[in-house]
Amino acid sequence: MEYKVIIPAAGMGKRMGFEKNKLRIHLLNKPIIAYTIEVFEKDPWCSSILLVINEQDRTFMEELVKTSKFSKVKEIVKGGQERQESVYKGLKKIEKESIVLVHDGARPFVHVDDIHKLVQVTSRKGAAVLAVPVKDTIKRVKEGVIQETLVRSELWSIQTPQAFHLSLLKQAYDKAEQEKYIGTDDASLVENMGHKVEIVKGNYNNIKITTQEDLLFAHAIINNNDLLKKS
Ligand code: CTP
Ligand code: MG
Repeated sequence: MEYKVIIPAAGMGKRMGFEKNKLRIHLLNKPIIAYTIEVFEKDPWCSSILLVINEQDRTFMEELVKTSKFSKVKEIVKGGQERQESVYKGLKKIEKESIVLVHDGARPFVHVDDIHKLVQVTSRKGAAVLAVPVKDTIKRVKEGVIQETLVRSELWSIQTPQAFHLSLLKQAYDKAEQEKYIGTDDASLVENMGHKVEIVKGNYNNIKITTQEDLLFAHAIINNNDLLKKS
């Protein structure tokens, strides 16, 4: 089942506090963004990869695509100030109706099996996201005081990829632009259209590398994968 993927990689990684985009940080022998692209390069269901970058990283990204022989990276597009703007710019480059995935450059450990589950649900329902049940108790807090304890069994941590029929996602982004609505993920723009978005249970390893301690978790995940392969 065929799909295309947009990879937003145009952030600055401010919370990481590295002098460059955090996606350029090496985990063992290659940068974070190389792991992310490789998942899709290797997946036979993925027909093309659209990489969204900031101009400071252009030379680095072009070199990486060339030396790693990422043949599915058909286009490298300049992003915007916010993630939503970056994805929108990528989206405008895709014309033919298809299933489109949006996947954070900062999530290098997504499993191909989960991608396939997600794509299958999306082909039937139009919109779906990977997610995992939250493990912590989550409370709503105002000015340092607990207002409410949310029902944990109803709470999910939402990840990427998030997958949609292209026309639906385009409509959602156009509507958000008209309304100046800023969502925290792609699904929230589709929710804002009144369209249902399905949850597909993913994997806790699919972390978003955001702060310094995530680099420790990332190395642990890589080493653990190696162990699993050897056993
Ligand atoms: N992203 C993007 N364009 C932006 C901002 C973010 O393409 N203007 C991308 C990032 O490169 C990342 C993904 O969106 O792959 C998720 O964003 P996040 O983890 O917040 O990364 P940054 O915005 O780079 O980090 P920070 O918020 O700490 O600055
Ligand atoms: Mg950000």
